[in-house]
Amino acid sequence: KRKVIFDTDTASDDTIALLLSLEFFDVVGVTVVAGNVKYENEINNALFTLEYFGYSHVPVFLGASRPIRGIWRTVEEVHGEKGMGRLDIPKPSKKPENIFASDAIIELSKKYNGELEILAVSPLTNLALAYLKDPSIVKRIKKVWIMGGAFTRGNTTEIAEFNFWVDPEAAEIVLKSGFDITIVPWEITEEAATITDDEWSRISSMGTKRSNFFIKVNEVLREYSKSTGAKGSVHPDSLTVTIAYDNSIILESVKKRVDVEVCGKSRGAMLVDWYDMTKSDIKAEIVTKADSSKFKKYLFEVLSKA
Ligand code: BDR
Ligand code: CA
Repeated sequence: KRKVIFDTDTASDDTIALLLSLEFFDVVGVTVVAGNVKYENEINNALFTLEYFGYSHVPVFLGASRPIRGIWRTVEEVHGEKGMGRLDIPKPSKKPENIFASDAIIELSKKYNGELEILAVSPLTNLALAYLKDPSIVKRIKKVWIMGGAFTRGNTTEIAEFNFWVDPEAAEIVLKSGFDITIVPWEITEEAATITDDEWSRISSMGTKRSNFFIKVNEVLREYSKSTGAKGSVHPDSLTVTIAYDNSIILESVKKRVDVEVCGKSRGAMLVDWYDMTKSDIKAEIVTKADSSKFKKYLFEVLSKA
């Protein structure tokens, strides 16, 4: 199995993306970063999810408990008070490791030199800090998969998607560093990773531990998504991880230089150099169309397993 680090602001859809990652990859570390809900809740959510599904051996590394500039707000209205929708979780007995997440990224990139991939479904603070400390990780990390950015339909401000908005400085650092990057932007996830009412019922009736967990942790997300006009709960992190596993889910993509706005009303906006005006060699692949049915097939398969 491919070696990956799962970088997460663990809440609702992040936990499902984690479950998918454990199924598809050899997860050599989970790194937690500030984003969705209170940091201590994110830590518990990550530890609990691993423990609950029998993956207590997977190490959890604590990272940045705030973005670089520290300007952000958590979004409990999207994920539930503690980030697990309506699921009340006990305090996990699993403990995090004693190494800072960014240092773990550096160390694991040495251990799995040329093999390691990063599944970044969260603000990019941990990865940016790792890069600033040791820029040579770019040569050792095979691939970075990023859920982030919006073309025009921001989910946090008019123009900004949440992960880029929480830490645009970190996103800027990562996008200019020369990693081999694929970005799955917000609109693509809305199109391809919305679980409709019929699909929701189908998952409810599976009756497995995993499907029950899915329903409980995503109930608040579903209500929130619907309140914004979506046809059901939207699962950006799960889609990104599944795309990383099976690239054929990418139906269309472009390779462009990507930057992020760091100031003013458009802070967190994704800036795509569509016409190659910057002549930059550093480009990222941006997914522009994804195969929704293929993604859902994987999701249903994983959730229906006993
Ligand atoms: C992203 O923001 C978070 O709320 C989700 O976990 C996802 O990673 C979507 O914009
Ligand atoms: Ca996330």
